[in-house]
Amino acid sequence: MNKQKLITLSGQDSQMIIELGDYAEILHWGQPVSGSLSGFRKALFRPVPYGRLDNDVSMTLSPELGRGVFSSPGIEGHRNGQDWAPVFVIEKVEHEEGKVTTISVDARAGLRLTSELVMDAHDVVKVRHTLGNLKEGIYQVNRLANTVPVPARANEIMAYYGRWVHEFQTVRQPLLQGGYQQENRRGRTSHEHYPALVVGTSHFTEMQGDVWGFHFAWSGNHRMRVDVKADGRRLVQAEVIYLPGEVALEKGESLTTPWLYASYSGAGLNGMSHHFHSHVREAVLPSDFAKKPRPIHLNTWEGIYFDHDPEYIMAMATQSAEMGVERFIIDDGWFRGRNGDKAGLGDWFLDESKYPNGLALIVDHVNALGMEFGLWFEPEMINKDSDLYRAHPDWLLAVAGYDQPTGRNQFVIDLQNDDAFNFLFERLDHFLSSYNIAYIKWDMNREIVQPGHEGKAAGQKQTECYYALVDKVRAAHPNVEIESCAAGGGRIDFEILKRTHRFWTSDNNDALERQRIQRGMSYFFPPEVMGSHIGASHCHSTRRRHSIEFRGLTALFGHMGIELDPVKETKEEKNGFEHYIKLHKALRPLLHSGKTWRVQTDDDAHQVHAVIAKDQSEAVVMIAQLAMPTNALSGHLRIPGLDPDAIYHVEVLDKPSNFNDIVNCQPFWTNEGCELSGEWCEKIGLTMPILDAETALLIRLKLLH
Ligand code: GLA
Repeated sequence: MNKQKLITLSGQDSQMIIELGDYAEILHWGQPVSGSLSGFRKALFRPVPYGRLDNDVSMTLSPELGRGVFSSPGIEGHRNGQDWAPVFVIEKVEHEEGKVTTISVDARAGLRLTSELVMDAHDVVKVRHTLGNLKEGIYQVNRLANTVPVPARANEIMAYYGRWVHEFQTVRQPLLQGGYQQENRRGRTSHEHYPALVVGTSHFTEMQGDVWGFHFAWSGNHRMRVDVKADGRRLVQAEVIYLPGEVALEKGESLTTPWLYASYSGAGLNGMSHHFHSHVREAVLPSDFAKKPRPIHLNTWEGIYFDHDPEYIMAMATQSAEMGVERFIIDDGWFRGRNGDKAGLGDWFLDESKYPNGLALIVDHVNALGMEFGLWFEPEMINKDSDLYRAHPDWLLAVAGYDQPTGRNQFVIDLQNDDAFNFLFERLDHFLSSYNIAYIKWDMNREIVQPGHEGKAAGQKQTECYYALVDKVRAAHPNVEIESCAAGGGRIDFEILKRTHRFWTSDNNDALERQRIQRGMSYFFPPEVMGSHIGASHCHSTRRRHSIEFRGLTALFGHMGIELDPVKETKEEKNGFEHYIKLHKALRPLLHSGKTWRVQTDDDAHQVHAVIAKDQSEAVVMIAQLAMPTNALSGHLRIPGLDPDAIYHVEVLDKPSNFNDIVNCQPFWTNEGCELSGEWCEKIGLTMPILDAETALLIRLKLLH
């Protein structure tokens, strides 16, 4: 094997060392090392045990069966049964600061593999491959995966599971022989298989351990696996699940994988999240938008559902403005035939029986109140009970001759059908051009079964066409913000975030559930992209009741909103909304630019979440009491991330109304405040107050000197 060159990609906290010869091999990805790398090859030369191939076999960025790699290959495909086990040799390397691209060819198989590896200043690595067909004859691609090795000490995994109204649940397990695999075949990013995972050293925590986090930026079907090879080496692999026959490359054509994002941290999960959050803020979110404060929403859905009366909606808007809302959104129910969830999808024309005097009246009213206006769409979907379906039954994404199951009574439109695509663009463009609309909520409320275009599988193309439709809308209306929603958190990933501005995190506005859902999402996303709304005191999805304090604080850190009918709320509740809106506005610059810390506690019945200003001059910390405290006393609250040498004033900013009545006495600092050094806060901390289950407390720390 011909190996010559070492290339280093460096961030602030991590380093990747890649050896290049016939192929690229990642030799190190972890703590940065300084000085000469000359001893590397000798130090890392692997022994060759008896009982296996006679030569050492490297783990390349795309494992090749033909080199004797027995793990899941990076490419599976064939040309009418030939060229099925390609072995690539690097022909060209392009290296610039933070990026290396290798161009490898297997001349015999007539294939070229271009591999890109990029590391940004925030320690986030991106990897993707492009497979090109150089020869006559269709090359049928079954699989094209992104593969990244992780060290053998990565022997624990944090993976995700979930479902509708229960997104971003995490599960920890040892990473032993057999490894881990998740497959998402639901056609969208999905609630069930959020495309990310973290591996790390045993018992890695928020603060400690080596961790390697991975996020596959793709909004369709995917497979993610962590292979523990029989020899102990490990690799993480992420790929699109291509349906049979879906990718057929003619000579000269190529296929590019989505990006696999990854980051190493030697400082546990918080360190990893800091990398991803900075990267999302600076490199993923649309750049024209990043600096604008996030306006407070009032979304009509849980307030009025399909029951739309313009006069009433204007009254809702008036009351919203009085509470301090900055953007008023009409959700589902405004277009023709949409009186419930059985009909209307596809007929993107204002329902004039509900809105006889037009929509402009309402938009103007909302704008005159000083608020932006937003509107809900679900462009990719169609009900059979719609004029659109009656006119174009052939626009369904389906395979002719089969009866597809419905999901929420609806079907999916085939976006590869140009007429359908253009119709949808025209309808969105019409509304965005005709009214002063600042924001659209782009929903997608069903899973995709048998995605067929002209009889052929079309899972990947449907996702690409969806991106193309969003891109076209954005290009025509660059100032309109878009929320990605799929029955709540079903389409949350980095690729769609490049073209949208926030996510509807979950249809579950229950504050207790939201605490857990938002925590799960916080590993990869900064708070400002999480739509977090205060719902009604009697939660619609769980039937639980929560105080306004708990609901208010739970919604405070994200992109905040209100999701109810303010007209029907009591004076007391409205005062509460107003209070939390004010509090959010005051803290918003800090919350949406600072560093998030998931603070470890002595008792799992608490969940503590902090945001610390980048210059460490200020911090807010929320203690959420998820369940009854385990013990009578709950230990100490230790807050990391402050300036150890600085003195801070600590005060309670918000607390449950009965805070002082539920015990003989609460800790002194909760009523009087105190002054502490950042070092004290981190190493010794403050005594935990006593809280009832399902309540929360907000603390602020301000730099004194
Ligand atoms: C989905 C969304 C909700 C709401 C409804 C409207 O469930 O997640 O927020 O917009 O659709 O039908």
